[in-house]
Amino acid sequence: MKPIQIAIDGPASAGKSTIAKIIAQDLGYVYVDTGAMYRAATLAVLKAQIDPQDEQAVSQLVPKLVVTFAPGEDQQEVFLDGQNVTAAIRSQAVVEHVSVVAAYQTVRQVMTAKQRELAQSTNVVMDGRDIGTTVLPQAQVKIFLVASVKERAERRYKENQAKGINQTETLAELETAIKERDYLDSHRALSPLKQAQDAVKLDTTGLTIDQVVAKAKALIAEKLSKR
Ligand code: CDP
Ligand code: CDP
Repeated sequence: MKPIQIAIDGPASAGKSTIAKIIAQDLGYVYVDTGAMYRAATLAVLKAQIDPQDEQAVSQLVPKLVVTFAPGEDQQEVFLDGQNVTAAIRSQAVVEHVSVVAAYQTVRQVMTAKQRELAQSTNVVMDGRDIGTTVLPQAQVKIFLVASVKERAERRYKENQAKGINQTETLAELETAIKERDYLDSHRALSPLKQAQDAVKLDTTGLTIDQVVAKAKALIAEKLSKR
């Protein structure tokens, strides 16, 4: 039987990875964090001291990278060429450049191919920006998670505090940075952040994680029962 694909897309800090992880665990599916792949590629660019604006140099480096995942104690661990980069990919330097790197054609081609490969032989919950539109257009379930930018900035601010990430930005600056990243992600030429026609929009503003999970689960059950 064809594997089941659940696509969760949406803007920064809408709760995609939190919800996707819980659902994947619940259903026994593999969780794929595609944002982590673009973040790892960006980290590699910075480590190689390549200017993120230099599309040619970035495009030469990225196809050579090996990004893998492994289940960790309380989160999924991300490896870049065998090195654990789980914390490093959340740094501000990576966040500042990821949308530029992620807009390049070669980078998108390489990542999309890897993501499709991961979803070929096993049931997945995959989160990102273009999963429902480009990576897995045949996904049986597509959810587009949104929340007000104010709430998304507050969530990320608290998350960074809890994780001990060195935040030099104020909450207001973080909100501006999120808006800018959403703008770049939504306006790029290739696979921009966009709700797929057949995706269901879920506005999570004011909702707890449990409430969102319950809504998502109900939606998944409904979609999968109709197959
Ligand atoms: O966690 P957050 O929503 O802040 O970001 P993320 O999901 O880790 O994604 C980081 C960046 O990677 C996004 O801002 C996009 O520029 C890029 N990305 C993408 O282009 N396509 C995807 N499928 C996933 C992420
Ligand atoms: O993956 P994405 O960037 O869309 O968001 P996330 O990393 O899953 O969520 C960002 C933060 O918001 C995390 O700290 C979540 O625990 C929190 N969150 C929340 O407070 N309420 C929700 N309904 C969903 C997420």
